Parts: sequence; C-alpha cells; structure tokens
Amino acid sequence: MSLIVPKPIMPDDFVLMAQTKHKLHLVLDGTINFPGNGVSGLVLYGIYGTGKTTMASLLPGWIETAKSTNFLGNNLVGKLVDQTGPYFSFQACAQGQNGSSVISNIINGTSLISLNSTGLHYVILDEVDILTTAAIASLKSIMNQKNIVFILTTNNLNKIDKGVMNRSILLDMNAAPTNEWINKIIDIYQTSGLKPPLPSKIAGVVLAGNGSARSIFTDIEFAESLRAIKEGDQS
Ligand SMILES: Nc1ncnc2c1ncn2[C@@H]1O[C@H](COP(=O)(O)OP(=O)(O)O)[C@@H](O)[C@H]1O
Ligand SMILES: [Mg+2]
Repeated sequence: MSLIVPKPIMPDDFVLMAQTKHKLHLVLDGTINFPGNGVSGLVLYGIYGTGKTTMASLLPGWIETAKSTNFLGNNLVGKLVDQTGPYFSFQACAQGQNGSSVISNIINGTSLISLNSTGLHYVILDEVDILTTAAIASLKSIMNQKNIVFILTTNNLNKIDKGVMNRSILLDMNAAPTNEWINKIIDIYQTSGLKPPLPSKIAGVVLAGNGSARSIFTDIEFAESLRAIKEGDQS
C-alpha cells in the first residue's frame, strides 16, 4: 500500500490556523452576511504552497451549496462539499494577462444574469497583486456591484490595495498549528492503511515546511517512499 494524499474537497481538508478556520466557517454558514454590507471579496493570503489557489477554486461551490441547498441543515460546515457545480470565472493574473484584459473578462462575464441558483457570479483572481494600478482601480468599482463574489489570492498582502481590502474579508493561510498538521498527517496515513511515523518525526517535517502544504506533503510522500523501499514494500 502506498500513501495517498487526497485532494482537498471540504474545509476540514485544509490545515488552517484557528482564526482563519473560524472566519471561514462564519462566512460559509451565513453567520456573516456575505456578500453584503459592501463586502464582496475574500482575500486568501499566505506564502507559496499554503493552498490558496486550491481553496479559491473550491469556494464558489461551497458558497453556492451553502446558500442554495439544505446541506448545512444536516452537516457540519467543515464537511461542506460542492453539490451544485456553479459557474465561476478563474483569472490567473500571473499568466501574462495584462490588467485590462482581466478586467474586461470580468465585465463581460458578469454583465449577464447569473445562471447560478443564488444569482451570484463568482470571480476568482489568482495572484491579484500582479494586476496593474489601473486594473485595481477598475476592480474596486466592480466590487461595488451586489451580485458578484470576488475570491482573490496573493502571496503578498502588502501589495493589496486598501480599497480592495476594505471590501473584503481576509483569510490568513499561513502556518497552521503544528499539532493540527500532525493530526492531519496521521489521519492520511491511517486512511491509506499505513502506520504513521512518530509525531515528533512528523513535527520535524512540518516545521521544515514552514506552513507550505506543498512542501510538507512532498516531504511526507518522499519519506514514505524511502521507508517503503527500505522495507522492500513497493506495492
Ligand atoms: N490543506 C491542504 N490539504 C491538502 N492538500 C493541500 C492543502 N493545501 C494545499 N494542498 C495541496 O498543496 C498544493 C499546493 O496548493 P496551492 O493551492 O497551489 O497553493 P498556493 O496557491 O497557496 O501556492 C496543491 O497540490 C494542493 O492540492
Ligand atoms: Mg497559487
């Protein structure tokens, strides 16, 4: 048997600091009126590999499902999985698109009535800090529209415009508690039918990874395959 790191599908699949988890739950379970009161953005910030892009892509489905089905009537918010497959637009700001093409894509995509049951449009702007100043100014004015949810990711919160931050809820994706990581990794080993390493060993990998899920999982998978090779179990 080999170690299988599952792709995240629900909030509980992410290892988060307590405050981030709490805020995320309040948004998803509707305790916070979102989008509402002039706040239409969620800003996911943190170092490379902390799961920002992964979570950004899941958020439209979570929000749509929470708002348009009875899922949360029967399940905890941490277990929320998409049951709706909503339409959303994903704009990778880093991939050579200039700011004005990103903005015109958003305007074109959101000018018609949304086909989602909630009537919401979802716009993901991945690595939004790369947008030009002019594009950010246009973004602020589009953020005043009521029926669009903006999901923004960045490695660098300092580069995010104050006006955009004002219109957003900030989610810090940086280093989650080591214990949470240890529990998550033990859980993944057990689900894969494998004996987990000692917690102290896992802690070493987590600390070396500095909060990056990408580094932590890569190191854990690597360590596991070395162990399997040593024991002659390469199945
Ligand atoms: N909390 C998590 N639990 C499980 N896998 C995760 C988690 N966060 C990130 N990943 C995995 O780590 C990798 C990097 O995530 P990504 O979303 O690209 O990070 P970022 O956008 O912050 O650089 C992806 O393969 C993703 O599936
Ligand atoms: Mg990313």
